[in-house]
Amino acid sequence: MRTPFVVGNWKLHKTIAESLALVTELKNQLGALREVAVGVAPPFTALNAVAKRLEDSSIVVSAQDCYWEEKGAFTGEVAPGMLRDAGCTWAIIGHSERRQFFGETDETVGKKVKAALAAGLGAIACVGETLAQRDGGTTFQVVEQHLRGVFADVGAPDAALLERIVIAYEPVWAIGTGRTATPAQAQEVHAFIRGWLTENVSAAASAAIRIQYGGSVKPDNAVALMREPDIDGALVGGASLQAADFVAICRAAKPA
Ligand code: 13P
Repeated sequence: MRTPFVVGNWKLHKTIAESLALVTELKNQLGALREVAVGVAPPFTALNAVAKRLEDSSIVVSAQDCYWEEKGAFTGEVAPGMLRDAGCTWAIIGHSERRQFFGETDETVGKKVKAALAAGLGAIACVGETLAQRDGGTTFQVVEQHLRGVFADVGAPDAALLERIVIAYEPVWAIGTGRTATPAQAQEVHAFIRGWLTENVSAAASAAIRIQYGGSVKPDNAVALMREPDIDGALVGGASLQAADFVAICRAAKPA
């Protein structure tokens, strides 16, 4: 019942021209793909051009972050409504790189998720432990704490809103390292997240919310990861910068 969702997080890569070249290829190659939702998250500077290029396509456009205020004296920030205006329908929120390098906290993640949803955006909220936390045996505690932040201000989401909330489980030790979680390691945490949703949000939320896996997803490991029952797609970094690899991962997410 959950449509798998694969999103390419381009991070700090690509000019407008490069972005357009990549999405044009994706549009051509993924046009016939059914049963998988696909998105791209270019840098802010390319969002509007990419959204225009994808107007006649089912590929959706996501920002990599957003602010929680709609306007005001907040130099350098971008509001959820501005992202809508630029053609975005989603925003990634709370990526571990933002937590690590830019002071993102569970509290700011909660505010951003609330603001994104209120503006009509979908929110891809990221959770996941560092290697030290995994080795220290605190993976579930860390993920639970991140989840509390994500849902702090969401209230009781109705069915339509659940379609616009996505959790991305991204173990920090697997990001950009080439060291992916095994399908069993990922599934274990995904199942934990689903259980947490049942207990803390609702049974409907647990059934409907898609949980992406992220961390060194490549064409050669995607099929095995996507086969796990609680993995509903992927948040792809490095491998989303090349059309061939990203297309192969999107195809791997098609339900068997
Ligand atoms: P990599 O796929 O490059 O490991 O990045 C994962 C990620 O952080 C996606 O948001």
